[in-house]
Amino acid sequence: MSDDSTNKTWGGRFREPTDAFVERFTASVNFDKRLYQHDINGSLAHATMLHKAGILSQPELNAIRNGLEAIRDEIEQGRFEWSVSLEDVHMNIEAALTKRIGDAGKKLHTGRSRNDQVATDIRLYLRREIRLLQQELQRLLEALVNQAEKHAATVMPGFTHLQTAQPVTFGHHLLAWFEMLLRDKSRLEDCCERLNLSPLGAAALAGTTYPIDRHLTAELMGFRGPTENSLDSVSDRDFAIEFTAAGALIMTHLSRISEELVLWTSSQFDFIDLPDRFCTGSSIMPQKKNPDVPELVRGKTGRVNGHLISLLTLMKSQPLAYNKDNQEDKEPLFDTVDTLRDCLRAFADMIPAIEPKTEQMRDAALKGFSTATDLADYLVKKGLPFRDAHEVVGKSVAACIEQNIMLQEMPLDQLKTFSAVIDEDVFEILTLEGSLASRDHWGGTAPSQVREAVKRARKRLA
Ligand code: ARG
Repeated sequence: MSDDSTNKTWGGRFREPTDAFVERFTASVNFDKRLYQHDINGSLAHATMLHKAGILSQPELNAIRNGLEAIRDEIEQGRFEWSVSLEDVHMNIEAALTKRIGDAGKKLHTGRSRNDQVATDIRLYLRREIRLLQQELQRLLEALVNQAEKHAATVMPGFTHLQTAQPVTFGHHLLAWFEMLLRDKSRLEDCCERLNLSPLGAAALAGTTYPIDRHLTAELMGFRGPTENSLDSVSDRDFAIEFTAAGALIMTHLSRISEELVLWTSSQFDFIDLPDRFCTGSSIMPQKKNPDVPELVRGKTGRVNGHLISLLTLMKSQPLAYNKDNQEDKEPLFDTVDTLRDCLRAFADMIPAIEPKTEQMRDAALKGFSTATDLADYLVKKGLPFRDAHEVVGKSVAACIEQNIMLQEMPLDQLKTFSAVIDEDVFEILTLEGSLASRDHWGGTAPSQVREAVKRARKRLA
């Protein structure tokens, strides 16, 4: 396995040991050791297949199985000694196996390469992590639907350009978040479906001369089947890019929600109360309660967006097939997974605990002439062309601003000076409830529509 000058598994052709710095520089074990369980599962499938192909005897297969399981226990109990000179998780485990069971361990690598091994490990890892992320996303989506149902009729101002635009319900606003995140969930599903193929058996790049059964290993590892092309199998990391892109969108969505939560907890908006357990204080200003959790999530978006660019750049211009560049896929990928898991968890815990301050929301909706469009629509229904109606309402609003009153506070006589068609029935449409109730169509903000949307959302989540 090695000559006198190096202890490497690949040391046969080498005449001097690796430079100590180069050894550290090229090693990945410090971060790829987290793939250990997937590496072991891949090896178990590979060994089972090698036995079926007549390459490993039954006693050899048994020794490999027992050895790998013992190694897994050692790793899980923190007793395994990882060695940087063994470069990566794959060679650390293989060396430990050989040390434990002797020659049978040396046969495990028959018909495979670290190139297809690592590609297999990352796919197994990502498949599992995506499933865990989906669980957190599901919990968050359910929390949004529950809050939306509770607040199907809670009035708040809707904004465009962050200026009061028209009244909406808080439930409707929450369901907008729901839609964003439900699309994210389906993006993760698509990504998982596409990556769920086994590259094992591609070996270094061209396949192998042994009578391997790639369908069997794929099946043993729960993949949909084997990948098609051996060159592509060992070099492709587009599934990692796709996952990180989906992750960047999740974080972008969470950052938008975070921004609104931060605004809404400020004394200027004062729309919601975020329970103390999601906030921290200031070391100098005793009155402060800071919305740290949404702020941090907003900030962490930068990491994941950055990882997406890292991975795209890593892949760009790589010639076929495997290149060592690909070792650099792991840290961005792992950090994306960790960041997503924590941020989704924080949100799934926090959303059910948000308490809207319904009076303040209502007051804010009353201010800012949020029913001005309703007045214009009213005039149109009475026969005015929309552009003229727009003009009439603009003038009425200007008069209100001068008198420091709300539209609904303007006496009918004065309203009539702007347009003769205005009548007593105008006051009903100027109310917040009137405005909400009239947006009564699929996807609209009327409380009855929000309740229907909640029902459909529950079905879509099931
Ligand atoms: N540590 C390597 C990686 O993460 C494993 C594959 C290395 N293969 C090789 N021939 N050097 O990509």
